[in-house]
Amino acid sequence: MASQDLKGKVAIVTGASSGVGWQTAVRLGEAGVRLCVTARRVEALEKLRHQLEERGVECISVPGDVTVQEDVEQVVRECLTHYGRVDILVNDAGVQSYGLFDELPWEHITRIFDINCFGFMRFARAVLPHFRAQGSGHILNIQSMLSKGSAPLLSAYSASKHATLGWAKSLEMELMGTGIQVSNILVPSVSSNMFAHAPTMFGLAPKPVPPTYDVDVVARAAVRCARRPGKTVVPVFLQGRLMLWVNAIAPWAGKLIMGQWGARMQMRDEPVDRPEGNLFHAIPQGVGPEGPVPPTPRWKRYSATAGLMALMGGLVFGVAGLARAAR
Ligand SMILES: NC(=O)c1ccc[n+]([C@@H]2O[C@H](COP(=O)([O-])OP(=O)(O)OC[C@H]3O[C@@H](n4cnc5c(N)ncnc54)[C@H](OP(=O)(O)O)[C@@H]3O)[C@@H](O)[C@H]2O)c1
Repeated sequence: MASQDLKGKVAIVTGASSGVGWQTAVRLGEAGVRLCVTARRVEALEKLRHQLEERGVECISVPGDVTVQEDVEQVVRECLTHYGRVDILVNDAGVQSYGLFDELPWEHITRIFDINCFGFMRFARAVLPHFRAQGSGHILNIQSMLSKGSAPLLSAYSASKHATLGWAKSLEMELMGTGIQVSNILVPSVSSNMFAHAPTMFGLAPKPVPPTYDVDVVARAAVRCARRPGKTVVPVFLQGRLMLWVNAIAPWAGKLIMGQWGARMQMRDEPVDRPEGNLFHAIPQGVGPEGPVPPTPRWKRYSATAGLMALMGGLVFGVAGLARAAR
């Protein structure tokens, strides 16, 4: 598909009060998109709106909860009243809760699905009638590498992201030939506020599975996707395309590493008492794009990539050598 000019297009961005949503709104605004930003925290949205307007970007903020049908309809209605159209829906709002599956409260599991999965669907159903009437539109879903993979302590989150990718792939097929596009971005660990927002059952502050990337990596991928919609994008190499490849040829490797060390990898040695986090109500902490864990320095990512590729190369040659010797 030819690259689309984004100037003057209108986008609704959910989950815009922090992290990926915030930064994606900023990057889309820089590309000339007019914005309608939403999340539950009114002050955070207003801060973003002011920041965007100072840079000459048109923006309205409409607070709402993605689990409340009336709120979702209100956001779309106000966007249409103000701009007269909507071209792009960025489905971003998401939560996670850390704990062993059988220790997670049942309400956490259902709430994670209600936000991460049904929240995406609610917003898609609210914009689709307008997209169909226009004969165009783009649903851009912020997915996760855990939409395809898995990690300990994040079973409900991972399940919700798998479900959302499955839904998006079906929707993509249903919408073929309508002019409406569906895209997905498989996000690696990023330095957002998610780890300061998430509830935890193990009493230590959670942290992303390393390496951690800058939130802006995803925001820039979202702009590229908005220009060339209709793809499922993996924006990074080490914790992205290489991981998918390793999992395809040696699925036992990821299982072994994550099964042995994955839980510890996701804990900081910092006690924290956060049984509910931002799951049921918004919390004031963690406004803006960057969270408590900085991105992994580039040199460390490059060294890990070189090491992993050497290991995989050695493994492939070793297996090929053994097979030749056995013949
Ligand atoms: N961080 C990562 O490493 C990572 C990795 C893979 C994928 N992702 C995906 O990236 C997306 C954004 O996450 P993030 O990392 O930017 O985390 P974040 O900083 O915690 O942002 C989450 C956003 O969702 C909003 N939200 C949460 N519950 C909501 C609800 N019930 N109704 C409306 N909005 C709600 C939050 O705003 P309010 O609290 O103000 O409502 C916030 O704006 C998620 O879909 C996540 O699955 C993140």
